[in-house]
Amino acid sequence: MLNKKSILDADSLSLEDIKLILSNADSFLEISRRDVKKVPTLRGKTVINLFFEPSTRTKTSFEIAAKRLSADIINFSPSTSSLKKGESIIDTLKTIFSMKVDLIVIRHSDSGTVKMVDRFVDIPVINAGDGKYQHPTQALLDLYTIKKRFGKFEGLKVAIVGDFLDSRVARSDMNLFEKMGMDVTIVSPTMFLPEDFSAMKVKHCIGDVIEDADIVYMLRMQFERQDRKFYPSVMEYNRFLTLNMDRLGKMKPGSIVMHPGPVNRGIEITDEVMDTSGELAEKIVIEEQVTFGVAVRMAILYLILG
Ligand code: CP
Repeated sequence: MLNKKSILDADSLSLEDIKLILSNADSFLEISRRDVKKVPTLRGKTVINLFFEPSTRTKTSFEIAAKRLSADIINFSPSTSSLKKGESIIDTLKTIFSMKVDLIVIRHSDSGTVKMVDRFVDIPVINAGDGKYQHPTQALLDLYTIKKRFGKFEGLKVAIVGDFLDSRVARSDMNLFEKMGMDVTIVSPTMFLPEDFSAMKVKHCIGDVIEDADIVYMLRMQFERQDRKFYPSVMEYNRFLTLNMDRLGKMKPGSIVMHPGPVNRGIEITDEVMDTSGELAEKIVIEEQVTFGVAVRMAILYLILG
């Protein structure tokens, strides 16, 4: 079992926790490939999905993971709840806890909200993404995807490309990638970099890393969290930072392209790359990330509640 009550960030996950989650994900991936994708492991447990911000992958993935483990899962919808009548988050949570749920999965647009919730409750809390801060289960499924492709982490060269200022995925991924001994390079214009990144290896053009990277991790441009002007223009962004067919073709054999989704087509990755078929399509593992996400989240729910 995991050595912790909740998963709030990537930083507090130990190497031991990470390895345990990744090794358990293997058996849950096997269950997801069966005709009957269900085991009774968490029968009688109740999980609540509290998503205060839109989500397709994370919310559905936790729901499928809980259902495959036979837990009951409730999807709480803030827009149709008494929050709309002015009830506070804390009073809303008190009401939900009175119904004796066993675990909360929470996403919120404000950084730190998940930690606040965790301090307030005795049951486990899983951070499904909060503001610009953390998205630890995304980072764990990213690690699992890398493990399945390469069978190792140590020494792999990963270039993370895009907006670091607004990206919770970048913060969580960088922490776990470095913990696992990967060699991380940041590719970003200065306007998308926090000041505390000055000690990191930074490049400003994807062309500088494309031929050498084992993993090119394209970050989503977080337009919904940006409160400033976008890069001078989409044209300049495309010139320096977008993954296009020419750049994909320069990647070395065995290398891969990752993205947490949803992709802004034509910004992070071109339509041509997203829809490519044949040999180069093997490099794009965005759908594999989603598939593996269910197995990783099953492992997490099992290791916390099982
Ligand atoms: N990667 C990710 O968090 O996607 P969603 O916003 O669709 O959950």
